[in-house]
Amino acid sequence: MNNLEKLIAQATADFSAANEIPRLEEVKAAYLGKEGSLTALLKGLGKLPPEERKAAGANINSAKAQVESLLTERREALRNAQLEAQLQASALDVTLPGRGPSRGSLHPVMRTLDRIEQLFRSIGFAVADGPEIETDWHNFTALNTPGNHPARSMHDTFYLLDAAGQVREDVLLRTHTSPVQIRTMLAHAEQYRHLDSMPEIRVICPGRVYRVDSDATHSPMFHQVEGLWVGENVSFADLKGVVADFLRRFFESDDLKVRFRPSFFPFTEPSAEIDVAFMHGPMEGRWLEIAGCGMVHPNVLRCGGIDPEKYTGFAFGFGPDRLTMLRYGINDLRLFFDGDLRFLSQFQ
Ligand code: DAH
Repeated sequence: MNNLEKLIAQATADFSAANEIPRLEEVKAAYLGKEGSLTALLKGLGKLPPEERKAAGANINSAKAQVESLLTERREALRNAQLEAQLQASALDVTLPGRGPSRGSLHPVMRTLDRIEQLFRSIGFAVADGPEIETDWHNFTALNTPGNHPARSMHDTFYLLDAAGQVREDVLLRTHTSPVQIRTMLAHAEQYRHLDSMPEIRVICPGRVYRVDSDATHSPMFHQVEGLWVGENVSFADLKGVVADFLRRFFESDDLKVRFRPSFFPFTEPSAEIDVAFMHGPMEGRWLEIAGCGMVHPNVLRCGGIDPEKYTGFAFGFGPDRLTMLRYGINDLRLFFDGDLRFLSQFQ
């Protein structure tokens, strides 16, 4: 083996011993760099006798070409290996199911409110709204609730503070949606002031209400849906028909039992509480109270700007949180307001 052959054999061995590209480039310098052995051989050509130069030059150049192609080959091989390793490391399993953005869903109580709205709209009710910070007059006085009524006590109602930190007596967090009855009647009476006879009022008012109360069936914030129908000759029979029909449609149960139990509310006379009993399932045969209702008290109609000699009306107030608990079989009201996704996502 002549020197050039030895050099090529050595280069082959050195290149394959280099396991990474940076190392390979270092090894390359030992052959092809400025101080490299092949470069030195080429530089030495000048010292040879002229007749030997041509053949020696051709041999060295062919050796150089071989070393260069060995180098390129090894470089390719290392690059491929590196790529392969990267691909292995970041292996994509294309058979895995996709991960889309997670979708939110309506809160179960909002679903109930939507459903209640839908059912009442279908029988000609509009949806009205009112403020959650309400005046004492709308929340109590206009609803025939006298100054000494226990609902007005600090233990039951959230009052607001003024800038000096004193409790204000004129505004509070509404304790029920009934004040929306007053706002609706006043606006309606004003709108049809110039007519001899006004069109009927038929509204529901869903919304949040606040009381100082907290246990498994009471939360300081909860929901109500008020209902109001005022017109000529509106009777208790209409109230019974509307409510019973609504409940059967809401619970999708024709054999639901509905009972009107005499009760008292300052803003209605006569007043009743509405109970339902299911004929199937875990609640079978048990009566559950779900709403208050009655014929709107003449004093309340008057505060709403409506003549009680000419018009009558009925009102009701449902607890949609309660309705949701019954519909889905939930036993603790606080679950609705804890914000636990494991619970909430079951209603998607
Ligand atoms: N506002 C009552 C409450 O919060 C519920 C209620 C009872 C509303 C009778 C009414 C009604 O409209 O007629 O307990």
